[in-house]
Amino acid sequence: MVHLGPKPPQHRKGTFTDVSPALMSTLKELESQFTVSGETLRKIVDHFITELDKGLSKKGGNIPMIPGWVMDFPTGKETGDYLAIDLGGTNLRVVLVRLGGNRDFDTTQSKFALPSHMRTATSEELWSFIADCLKKFYDEEFPDGVKEPLPLGFTFSYPASQDRISQAVLQRWTKGWSIDGVEGKDVVPMLQSAIEKVGVPIELVAVINDTTGTLVASSYCDPEAKLGLIFGTGVNGAYFDVVGDIPKLEGKTAEDVTPDTPMAINCEYGSFDNEKVILPRNKYDIIIDEESPRPGQQTFEKMNSGYYLGELLRLILVELAENKKLIFQNQDLTKLKQPFVLDTSFPARIEEDPFENLSDVQELFYDYLKIETTVPERKVIRRISEMIGERSARLSVCGIAAICKKRGYKTAHCAADGSVYQKYPGFKARAAKSLRDIFEWPADLEDPIIIVPAEDGSGVGAAIIAALTKKRLKEGKSVGIKA
Ligand code: GLC
Repeated sequence: MVHLGPKPPQHRKGTFTDVSPALMSTLKELESQFTVSGETLRKIVDHFITELDKGLSKKGGNIPMIPGWVMDFPTGKETGDYLAIDLGGTNLRVVLVRLGGNRDFDTTQSKFALPSHMRTATSEELWSFIADCLKKFYDEEFPDGVKEPLPLGFTFSYPASQDRISQAVLQRWTKGWSIDGVEGKDVVPMLQSAIEKVGVPIELVAVINDTTGTLVASSYCDPEAKLGLIFGTGVNGAYFDVVGDIPKLEGKTAEDVTPDTPMAINCEYGSFDNEKVILPRNKYDIIIDEESPRPGQQTFEKMNSGYYLGELLRLILVELAENKKLIFQNQDLTKLKQPFVLDTSFPARIEEDPFENLSDVQELFYDYLKIETTVPERKVIRRISEMIGERSARLSVCGIAAICKKRGYKTAHCAADGSVYQKYPGFKARAAKSLRDIFEWPADLEDPIIIVPAEDGSGVGAAIIAALTKKRLKEGKSVGIKA
């Protein structure tokens, strides 16, 4: 049977007769600003490949292409108890992973809500918050203590350079984080000393990116898994390269490493096109960038990741209401004018509204923003949300296509995780369709490169990587650049 993936959601054509001509023409203009043709996607992918290569070169480029020092594929026979923590956008997740040794595992986890000010708190506050959560979890799970310190894998999902797996020098914060005194520093001693202060026997053995964790956890269960991807608050991917194809590692690896040794690469491709030569940015993208804590950075991510989709919608609505005076007339726009007041669940819920008169959208705007909407306004809001969601899916697969082309993968399972992948309506179908537009597979060919749901990368992946690291160390093998 030919599998062409689920059908993308269709917007409701021909139902805009009650929308005023002025609003309609603005909508058309927006449509042209948010539409990315197959041809444009293919051009983006070509440039993307060049940039991935540049990132691996000695000179380097915009895309960091960070070697993650995971140099073994998991065998599935790894055993033992490991702790994993994942510092996400809204939660800190602590996971106890028991690797069973037969491609099996058990997990127990707790989620701790990050206080809302944490994104901009002080460095000490952040590390002691994490250490306190670890202590709470440890006290609950190990009331009788442990014989040996528990190895910890820390999923730190920001661009961090690593000379070895137990080091992570934060290059810069992304996704709206901005804590002073961390950029340019190794986060490991900071966290380890906070852990020592609370007095729990936990040893930080590996710092990993969420994409690397996703890649490793998924390849543990599925040998066809070639990419680990996150479509969430941020957007990024990891894959296995070989050391011989990474010019910037030349002369830097230890004797046990050969040119065909695998090496997990955390691409950090959210920073693709920071020099702004190929991505079709529109004025809303430019505002998002200029008003962000790190203007000029993460150009690709700012156009398609979950952190920005609600804000894109908000900026457009403010313009339509305030500057163009086409919607929400004589209403209080105070709430709507608050930056980032709409998170990604907003356009997602708008797209999901099943009612012809979009009554869910009506409720949402009233409950949340105290704005009354008319039916034509709601249709326009819905169409704008579709445009934002569709562009996000189309752009975000460019990274997948570029890696597959670069590594010559004709078939692949691309293991994906993240809130946008999991929850944004239509994302999966739109992403699959966009891959088709890029690769131009014949209509009767089943999609050879597919996006599949990932295993828990930041829990199980971090634990497996901690296990692989312990094993390498025990065997006297290297876990970083040569000493
Ligand atoms: C941002 C981070 C990156 C992470 C991605 C997904 O792009 O810089 O490290 O993998 O978000 O969480």
